Amino acid sequence: MRIISLFSGAGGLDLGLIQAGNTIVWANDMDKDAVATYKKNISDDIVCDDIKNIDIDSLPEADVVVGGFPCQGFSQANLRRVLDDPRNQLYRFFYETIKDKQPEFFIAENVRGILSIGKGEAIKQIISDFQDAGYITEVHKVNMADYGVPQTRQRVIIIGQRKDIFPTMLFHFPEKTNGKDGEPKPWITIKEAIERFPDPDEPNDVLNHTYSKYKVVYRDFTAHRQTNPDKPSPTILARGNGGGGVCAIPHYNGKRRLTIRESAAVQTFPDDFYFIGSQNSCYRQIGNAVPPLFAKKLGEELIRLEKVNERSLVV
Ligand SMILES: C[S@@+](CC[C@H](N)C(=O)[O-])C[C@H]1O[C@@H](n2cnc3c(N)ncnc32)[C@H](O)[C@@H]1O
Repeated sequence: MRIISLFSGAGGLDLGLIQAGNTIVWANDMDKDAVATYKKNISDDIVCDDIKNIDIDSLPEADVVVGGFPCQGFSQANLRRVLDDPRNQLYRFFYETIKDKQPEFFIAENVRGILSIGKGEAIKQIISDFQDAGYITEVHKVNMADYGVPQTRQRVIIIGQRKDIFPTMLFHFPEKTNGKDGEPKPWITIKEAIERFPDPDEPNDVLNHTYSKYKVVYRDFTAHRQTNPDKPSPTILARGNGGGGVCAIPHYNGKRRLTIRESAAVQTFPDDFYFIGSQNSCYRQIGNAVPPLFAKKLGEELIRLEKVNERSLVV
């Protein structure tokens, strides 16, 4: 399918969608490093600009719009009208693109916190906005470990389908492939994901295999807990060191934090995907990403629907 990608970052989501056989027809991000990474690994066709400067009319036609709109603007205090709040401009752009372009489907990724903002009122309003724009919407809570990602990353995936395609949802959300209880298959552990990499303090030719010197001190707090080699990694973060930088997860050897490459492997980026920018910027691009392995499963479902479409045209 032809896809418009908003807030594309380094391209974790786009990479998986492309691997499944889809085409990105337009992409955008304002972060120069993320765009450089995208250009190096995915495609030169990405616009580096603040989305607020983009004219929606200039976007090409597409079958699908995807993106993780940042939701800082959804404060508890001001939920009267999410769309009218000037702090929600980014959500508004995502919404306007869908309203204007009327793709068959949209996919939005967000943090789990979006479900509890205003005791669930924000997400209700989002669903209602898209209903008004002509879409049936489903909200899925996902633990990426259930899809073979070596990480207990919890996210919300919002799927929208244009109402006129069919009165019920055609998009089948991907089936879980792994589970905490071992069914269908056991969760993948962090050790399985990263043990192949050499010691980064020894000479090696592994890309981006350097690590933050932020000391490992265990406290009962995110990114400061001991990492269990026999479990999936905790969530790879995009912030959190208290000084505006990113806090990498401690290696299970307890001696250092994960390298950029190890963090990328936990996010299921291929080993030859090269991140551009300062160490902090690379960690951030990785922490911000949708794991490509999970994105590919979403992309495969789009391909299945495309084939259904083709068949119904033949009939
Ligand atoms: C959660 S990340 C998206 C990650 C991406 N989906 C992936 O899988 O790699 C959100 C992105 O939105 C971008 N962003 C935030 N505000 C923006 C704006 N005003 N215009 C364009 N991009 C923006 C950030 O630079 C960041 O890369």
